[in-house]
Amino acid sequence: MKERVTEPDIIEDQELAEYYNRMAKRYGRFPCQRVLKRVLAKGIENGRAIDVGTGPGTFPIFLSKAIPGIRFKGIDLSPVMVEIARRNAEEAGLADKIEFKVGSAYALPVEDHSLDLVLCITTLHHLDRPVDFFNEVARSLKEGGAFVIVDFHRDASFVFIGIFNLLWRAFFGRYPKARRGFLESIRSSYTLKECLDFLQRSRLEHWKLYTRTVEMWIESGGRPSNPSLSSSCNGTSGITKGGHGF
Ligand SMILES: C[S@@+](CC[C@H](N)C(=O)[O-])C[C@H]1O[C@@H](n2cnc3c(N)ncnc32)[C@H](O)[C@@H]1O
Repeated sequence: MKERVTEPDIIEDQELAEYYNRMAKRYGRFPCQRVLKRVLAKGIENGRAIDVGTGPGTFPIFLSKAIPGIRFKGIDLSPVMVEIARRNAEEAGLADKIEFKVGSAYALPVEDHSLDLVLCITTLHHLDRPVDFFNEVARSLKEGGAFVIVDFHRDASFVFIGIFNLLWRAFFGRYPKARRGFLESIRSSYTLKECLDFLQRSRLEHWKLYTRTVEMWIESGGRPSNPSLSSSCNGTSGITKGGHGF
């Protein structure tokens, strides 16, 4: 297994950020629908949510339209991205519904146990201290709150990495600064085992960790009102490979 190669923390380059935004607008619908499906499966229909590493705000904007009862905050370390996210919310008519601000995954700008939902999509590989981030998720969530964390994993099969890299280069790679983006993200992502270790060392509970092709999903297993789900999804026993089997 190759060593992890850290990716620069934040996307600050204006041109690259604008390009990312255009691509997210063009191709973001399908990934957003997949996340929406998982959020709906957890019974989240209202309440307070945060999207960590929100980039251009694609996910909270999509989810706010689909589930109007949710009030999102979107945070990102990059002021450039936050400006773009605000612009996107304005264009979508959601400027007074979603608050985008500069903020860190290691210090979420919310009170203890105040959130119903935490999202973090393709951002974990930017974080060098995942345990601290998971602890922040645990601190922020209400009892029984839900989370959906999606990222790549470095131990994905070479076949999947090869196929996804070709797709990446075909769709996103025309812009030179983005050409190697997929491989760089894979290299800076964690392996399933590393992530399992981070989760076990963190205060986050009731999680489920599984892979799908090049992706790794970490999700809450359900609300305490559904004990059969939550009790079976805590700790190592919650690890599964290959699908949404819960
Ligand atoms: C690959 S982008 C993903 C954006 C968005 N979640 C999406 O899927 O379209 C990762 C984002 O995480 C942000 N980021 C990196 N490190 C961060 C940190 N410590 N706290 C908050 N955001 C961070 C970057 O600035 C970047 O916008």
